[in-house]
Formats: sequence, structure tokens, C-alpha cells
Amino acid sequence: MKVTVIGGGNVGATTANVIALKNFADKVVLVDTKEGVATGKCLDMMQTAKLLHIDTKLTPSCNDYNKTKDSDIVVITAGMARKPGMSRTDLIGVNSKIVKSVMDQALEYSPNAIFIIVSNPVDTLTYLALKDSGLPRERVIGMSGLLDGSRFEYYLAEELGCPVGDIDAMVIGAHGDLMVPLTRMATFRGVPVSEYISKEKLAEIEHATQVGGGTITKHLGTSAWYAPGAVVATMVQAIAQDTGKTLSCIALLDGEYGEHDVCAGVPVTLCKKGIKKIVELPLNESEKALFQKSVDSAKETNAKLAEALKA
Ligand code: 2OP
Repeated sequence: MKVTVIGGGNVGATTANVIALKNFADKVVLVDTKEGVATGKCLDMMQTAKLLHIDTKLTPSCNDYNKTKDSDIVVITAGMARKPGMSRTDLIGVNSKIVKSVMDQALEYSPNAIFIIVSNPVDTLTYLALKDSGLPRERVIGMSGLLDGSRFEYYLAEELGCPVGDIDAMVIGAHGDLMVPLTRMATFRGVPVSEYISKEKLAEIEHATQVGGGTITKHLGTSAWYAPGAVVATMVQAIAQDTGKTLSCIALLDGEYGEHDVCAGVPVTLCKKGIKKIVELPLNESEKALFQKSVDSAKETNAKLAEALKA
């Protein structure tokens, strides 16, 4: 199993590190354009191999896509991260060009790979990667819902004072302030969390989830990387090990949820070929309306793509 991670910044390097720690991949190639970044980080990670029992071989590449040849999975994290006060959509000008370029290069060397898009605005850049590559929708997946869901579960567990493993919660829709935390379906040990948390507090937790990325950016001056890296590694593992796990990921909708020709976060069953199926949840009218608004925000950003690529 060979995985390529494009972008040796915080998210890309963390992704490579978590994949290595999980020890399911034979090889991880970390690609960066800046001389020394991939080499230094791979050296540093490989020097933990004995201590952390890592068998995975981490290999650097300074923009040499030949080293990525025949990757099974390619993760694209390349691009700018948000600064405080920026929306993810503000990144479309720079990141659309970067994602298009690295997608083209990676695909040339790994024509059969499955692609995971992380760069923001990720719903739109997943859509770009699909349209630009012409790949079937099963093979291009965006990272968002599992990250937002992890934040949602964290806030619920904090409120209940319980281990986060006792919470099960999902977020769907576009990866932005209009994302949809599915509170009605969130459970503590199988029991709806609404049995234990007031409506007012749940509304606060939903909002904290929706702005979760921005909250971290305010503290750090840049985007988060530990949770995004762990989420991407989890998605890669689910595909690599053909687990059949269903995770909230960005997929191209082709009739599901009544939507067409748009990418947004939905429950996706993952397998070694990428997306096995999109799971349609029994949303109630209010959830459907919130999902629609969220998907519409992704469509609005998609409409800016042509301009962004030309600029
Ligand atoms: C986040 O929400 C980077 O968009 C990612 O942290």
C-alpha cells in the first residue's frame, strides 16, 4: 500500500505521521515544493521508527512526482491555510490553481489512485478535482464531515463529562459555518443526547462545532492540523484496509438527497475502491432545509471557480 501526501505543511506532515503510526501502509511519500521541508520532516519522523515501532517507510520528495509513481491513495493538502478572520472560501483564488496543478501531476504518475482532497474551500476543490480529472466520483473524496463530527463529539462529551468514545454524532453539508450537526441523531451510549442536554446548550454546542475551525485559527494564527491529520489518516486507513466503514466525507451528489452536480459532506461507506455507497439518512423537514442551505453555499462557491482559475 503506497500513499502520497502532497503538501508538507502542518496538515500534510501530521497526516503522514499518523498514517505511519497506524502502520498499515508500506510507504508514504511526502511531497513539498520547498527544498528541505519534506526531507527534514521525513527524517525526523523516521527517527522515531524504533521508539514508536513504525515499519512504514516515509520518503520525501521535493516536487518530484516520479517518486509518487503508482500510489494507491493520494492526499492533497497543498495550498494556503486560513489566517484569523478569513473564511475558507477566501482561499479559492490561490488554492484552486494549486489543487488543479498538483492533481494533474499526481494523476499522471498514479492513474489508478484514489484522491482525498483536504485543501480549502474543500467542497469546491473536491468538485474541481473531479471535473478537472474526469475521474469517477468514487475515486475523489473530500475531507470534512469526520473532522466536524469529531469536534461535535468533543463538545458533547465535554458537556456530559463523559469519555468521547461514549458519544456518536455526525455532521453533514458543506464544510463551513452552514454545516449541519445532526443533533437529533447524536447519542450518548445509544440514548439521544437531548435526554441529557438542554436545547439552549445544544444550540451553543452546534455553533461551537460550526465555527470549530475558526476558533482554533484564532488561537494559532493558522488552521488546525492535529485533528485534520488524524481524520485524513482515518479515511486513508478505511480505504486501504477495505473496512466498509461509513464516515462523513465530501462526495459528488448525483441524485442523493435530491442534489445533483455538487460536492458536500454526507455519510459515505468507504472501501478499497474509494466510495462504495452514499448513505441517505432519514432527515426530517428541518434537517433537510438546513442541508439544502448548506449545499447551496457550496454551489455559490463553485460558481466562483471559473473566475478564480482565470485570475
Ligand atoms: C478546519 O476546519 C482546516 O478546514 C479545516 O480546521
